Amino acid sequence: MKKIAVLTSGADAPGMNAHIRAIVRTAESHGVKVVGVRRGFAGLIEADFIPLERKDTANIIGLGGTILRTSQSEEFLLADFRAKAADNLKAAGIDGLIGCGGDGTMKGLHLLHRDHNVKVIGSPGTIDNDIFGTDFTIGFDTAINTAAEAIDRIRDTADSQGRVYIIEVMGSEAGFVATMVGIACGAEYMAIPETLTNIPDLYKRITREGKHKRYIVVIGEGDEVGGAVDLAALLKECYNIDSRVAVLGHIQRGGKPTVADRVLGSRLGHGAVETLLSGASNVMVGEIHGQLQFTSLPQTYERKKALQDHLIRLAEILA
Ligand code: F6P
Repeated sequence: MKKIAVLTSGADAPGMNAHIRAIVRTAESHGVKVVGVRRGFAGLIEADFIPLERKDTANIIGLGGTILRTSQSEEFLLADFRAKAADNLKAAGIDGLIGCGGDGTMKGLHLLHRDHNVKVIGSPGTIDNDIFGTDFTIGFDTAINTAAEAIDRIRDTADSQGRVYIIEVMGSEAGFVATMVGIACGAEYMAIPETLTNIPDLYKRITREGKHKRYIVVIGEGDEVGGAVDLAALLKECYNIDSRVAVLGHIQRGGKPTVADRVLGSRLGHGAVETLLSGASNVMVGEIHGQLQFTSLPQTYERKKALQDHLIRLAEILA
């Protein structure tokens, strides 16, 4: 291979820039040129390419977001647009593509490989940590640290006021963010998609603490009850419990990546290039128990990554 491309797609995640930097520098060490695709699959369809050299990746390792920008391309799900993307890669003399993102990105890469035999490697980048084939995704560590810092601040005022707080965190359909943050912040209750949220039981727990006691509920956005606003409304309607609501929202996705995300992004970037140059394709490079792990792209989105039972139990015992 003489020239490869890299894109970031779907929701951005802190650590993606470290990933891009590692790809460029690893490729250069093999004498391989790198092209950056701007705005993910949308940019691939429009041949929005820029050359990336070592100097272009200086001082980006500590930046949040992605310098290549990103998008959620509906068009890429259509065969004609994928054909255009494959033509663009060919016309630019690009021999392989690395894509960093969530499950939609892994699917897009797989379809490009399946339909046009493009050599593709995926790497998991999402704050949700919900990709099968890796212990952690790029961006998760930063997001949980950001959310934990915010909740620590809320706890100060919740303690002082003796109030019930319901705090909603991101995480899509999975409770990784809510569970880790709930444990880390000593939340009294975690409402996550993996377990049923029992409102009478929650009421009993809140009242057991007595009036004027702080009570923090962390709710994952994918919980079956709905979001923090819905849970607060239910508690009010059923039990006349007054609470305050905080939806942390997109602050969890921005900001400087933590050391763990910079290192993971770097390691998976290096691993993705080495894997592509070895001739492999249609796999995602993840990390399991500290070792690089290769998972076929369809498995990464067809199989569900389970939230570990021991974490759920720990959260319940310590709450
Ligand atoms: O997948 C990452 C994520 O931040 C989810 O946690 C959240 O549900 C979603 O993206 C939000 O997407 P958007 O920025 O498009 O509203």
